[in-house]
Amino acid sequence: MGERTVGYEAEGSIAVVHLNRPDRLNAINRQMQDELGEAFAAADAAPDVRVLILTGAGRAFSVGADIDELETTAEGAARQLQASLASLSSPERLRKPVIAAVNGYALGGGFELALACDIVVASDRAVFSVPEPTLGVVPGFAMQRLPRLVGVMRAREILLTARRISAQEAREYGIVSRVAPHDELMAQARSVAMGMMELAPLALELLKATINRHMLPSDLAFAERANAWLFTTRDAQEGIRAFREKRKPKFSG
Ligand code: COA
Repeated sequence: MGERTVGYEAEGSIAVVHLNRPDRLNAINRQMQDELGEAFAAADAAPDVRVLILTGAGRAFSVGADIDELETTAEGAARQLQASLASLSSPERLRKPVIAAVNGYALGGGFELALACDIVVASDRAVFSVPEPTLGVVPGFAMQRLPRLVGVMRAREILLTARRISAQEAREYGIVSRVAPHDELMAQARSVAMGMMELAPLALELLKATINRHMLPSDLAFAERANAWLFTTRDAQEGIRAFREKRKPKFSG
């Protein structure tokens, strides 16, 4: 195993977890998935830690799944999607609140990871988008979460055009609760965390669990099966190959 892909620093009652593959724009490979799970578990279990901040090193929060590792067999894609959904939604299952400090690109799974956090603070350089259809596939759970969060019409536009959304627009849509000047992002995320220190941890835990109970989509199994199938299609294989070859894909439908 090479260098660690996830950093973890405890700063008093705040644990800062950062995605750390800046040269790949924090694309999430298997190693990062495992290490993110370890960092979250450590922070959730640490008696002194009250709040987590999740951010990315370099110019991206995360650009989603590592396209170089995507599997396109029915079995491989199903296994990979299940692991990826569990990992991307894991902030929801922690007892402690997680603040996403979105420092740049939050694309695909990176966007979904931010959506699974309790509070999202974004740098004014942040960019959100769900580009999976450019590869011939669909996102893991943005299809279920976004309509509830931003309304069905906006969600359709975001998903069916795969267009990019600025931090300001994300705030207007309610995806982000604050936009900070880039250099003040971490200070603002820490200030949100400090505000939570005054509150009772068990009360926050119950609030978080209750809010997330209402967020859980019931139709995830259908989307997961359909997406696993999509990975086996010629268009998905072409989309993934085209990204690797740095060219525009030719989709045939
Ligand atoms: N998986 C694996 N590698 C990725 C990646 C991903 N999701 N996204 C970017 N990278 C790699 C690039 O291949 C490139 O590697 P290289 O330096 O070896 O060529 C490096 O990260 C930097 O990306 P690059 O594309 O050169 O930066 P850019 O500023 O020109 O473009 C993006 C940035 C985010 C617009 C572009 O990288 C992109 O579209 N990425 C794919 C995002 C995506 O489709 N995510 C959903 C995955 S299911």
